[in-house]
Amino acid sequence: MPPGDPAKGAALFTSNCAACHSAVNGGGDEQGPNLYDVYGRKAGSEKGFAYSAGFAKADFVWDDAHLDKWLTKPTSVISTTYMMYAQPDPQIRADIIAYLKSLDTK
Ligand code: HEC
Repeated sequence: MPPGDPAKGAALFTSNCAACHSAVNGGGDEQGPNLYDVYGRKAGSEKGFAYSAGFAKADFVWDDAHLDKWLTKPTSVISTTYMMYAQPDPQIRADIIAYLKSLDTK
């Protein structure tokens, strides 16, 4: 993964992710789960969000490697997922991941 820029990632989050996700603390779930503090969080663990079935078996936390794979092709991480997004550009993925990491409070 190339080094990511969290400031660029914040803008990219708005244009790429915000239609379906809030990243605001306490912002709640939208079509997708709230992503505040998702970095380092166990996959599928946002309370009250109805994940697709495969998340029940997900036994990992969201780190650089998992997020990079996820944003490249979500079904390659969790085959049942209905998150409709795929980002082929490694720099864009890295910037967005750096932004999510900047929201990690753990
Ligand atoms: C078209 C709507 C949509 C877009 C755009 C979208 N997502 Fe999602 N995302 C979802 C949905 C729906 C889920 C839950 C999927 C499931 O349950 O299978 C999800 C799940 C996730 C998860 C898993 C969270 C957890 O609690 O385990 C992460 C991480 C994530 N998205 C990151 C992103 C990022 C970062 C972007 C932008 C680059 C993005 N998503 C763009 C709809 C979207």
